[in-house]
Amino acid sequence: MSLISAASEVRENAYAPYSRFKVGAAIRGGSGAVYRGCNVENVAFPEGTCAEAGAIAAMVAAGETEIIEVCVIADSPAPVPPCGGCRQKLAEFGRHDVPVTLATVDGQQTTTTIGDLLPGRFDASHMDRA
Ligand code: THU
Repeated sequence: MSLISAASEVRENAYAPYSRFKVGAAIRGGSGAVYRGCNVENVAFPEGTCAEAGAIAAMVAAGETEIIEVCVIADSPAPVPPCGGCRQKLAEFGRHDVPVTLATVDGQQTTTTIGDLLPGRFDASHMDRA
């Protein structure tokens, strides 16, 4: 199954009663396995989690720590880019050149990279004097 199909499928399970905005994410780990996540909202709004965070959690729970490809899909007028926090989360596990496909349910698609989504990211080297 393609990454976009996996993201589209898991999006159906999103729990988004407050925003009514369902998001699906699928990531391919270094092994080739695909991990999925959807947004899970909460009545205490800041406690909600993004689709990307769910997919990353599934990957790490399965014992993998390298992302080689990402896809995010939503029903929006244009492909929705990951939020700032998710960009940092993706950068933790994926190299700069990892492709990130952003898609809409009506077939629009654009591809960027983890590096382009988060230039100048905070990484472990910034703590070298600690
Ligand atoms: N959301 C995601 O899951 N991923 C994104 O990349 C953008 C935003 C979710 C969070 C919240 O449940 C809803 O979309 C509206 O912000």
